[in-house]
Amino acid sequence: MPPLHTLHPTLSPTQPPIINAPMLAIATPQLALSVTRAGGLGFIAGGFDISNLEQTLAEAATLVKNSNPSTPIPGYSSDNDDPLPLGIGFLNWGANLHQILPLLRKHTPTAVWLFAPPDPSPTENLATWAREVRAATNNRTRIWIQIGCVAEALEVAERVRPDVLVVQGSDAGGHGLARGASVISLVPEVKDALARKGLGGQIALVAAGGIVDGRGVAAALCLGAEGVVMGTRFLACSDAKISKGYRDEVLRVDDGGVSTVRTTVYDVVRGYNEWPGRYDGRGVINESYRDMQRGVGEEENRRLYKEEMRKGDAGWGPQGRMTTYAGTGIGLVREVKSAGEIVRGVVEEARGVLEGVRRW
Ligand SMILES: Cc1cc2nc3c(=O)[nH]c(=O)nc-3n(C[C@H](O)[C@H](O)[C@H](O)COP(=O)(O)O)c2cc1C
Repeated sequence: MPPLHTLHPTLSPTQPPIINAPMLAIATPQLALSVTRAGGLGFIAGGFDISNLEQTLAEAATLVKNSNPSTPIPGYSSDNDDPLPLGIGFLNWGANLHQILPLLRKHTPTAVWLFAPPDPSPTENLATWAREVRAATNNRTRIWIQIGCVAEALEVAERVRPDVLVVQGSDAGGHGLARGASVISLVPEVKDALARKGLGGQIALVAAGGIVDGRGVAAALCLGAEGVVMGTRFLACSDAKISKGYRDEVLRVDDGGVSTVRTTVYDVVRGYNEWPGRYDGRGVINESYRDMQRGVGEEENRRLYKEEMRKGDAGWGPQGRMTTYAGTGIGLVREVKSAGEIVRGVVEEARGVLEGVRRW
């Protein structure tokens, strides 16, 4: 497998690839393009409801087209018919592939990120998506697949042959496998398992989960990842679409191993019941979770959540009920920054950390 930056020429060969997670309703074209502009690779959220997808992709294409010619996007040229210099992430259990394909032909992204395929044949679902997306885009779109354990990584690698595996550890914010390990053991174990199957070096690995600063980036690279996905860090980003209440909660909360939890209760209260059973989501502990523990029934908990929605931003906070999906790294997120500042900042910090380690 060629290095990640040769798969995506907008990635700089001289800085560790930083990627924003395609966070549902939060990762907009503006966020994605700002990450790409800073030398990373930006992803837009496609999610499961694709009713706005055409509009979102058109917005991304317009942003790229109208980019200031005096600050070109490195590695990208519209003259060469390059794919859009950003990716798009889908939640496979709900997104309709056949409605998506014509849109990908029209506004071809550099990557498609697949996650959470439906039962009963999740790997077959991924294989179909990979085959059809590649065919529809003449192989111009790379296939990224987010996995959460070694067995899943092996099955997907052997059956689907994605270009990139996003190795998501259990510290990750938002949805992931209910049972799993953190990236500290998951990334090297996936790498070794792929090597034993003769697939080492054929599929790029990027790490996701609990990484919010340059120290985490440096650690992930040492573990064998070629790039790093950050979700929670981009919740406190001026380029992300996020309500003030949510963002303030991300800045307020610390000690993420204790203050966040993996649970399905936030899907229950919000009425998202279609996630395959092996997934749950990590979010900040709030009144919905505490009520579930106290034995409050699902219907009543849902009613209380709906009532809380009327409060707007005030629905977040220590006694709130609005969902704050976030990872265990939440306590390290202290200030709002632009996407460019985040990417450049973590790259610089990672470089410093790796230099410091070199003396050993
Ligand atoms: C608010 C939020 C929304 C997310 N939405 C999605 C999504 O729509 N699709 C997806 O593949 N992953 C989603 N994720 C998971 C990310 O892809 C990624 O694995 C995770 O953010 C990495 O962990 P971190 O949050 O600790 O950086 C989401 C994560 C968060 C925090």
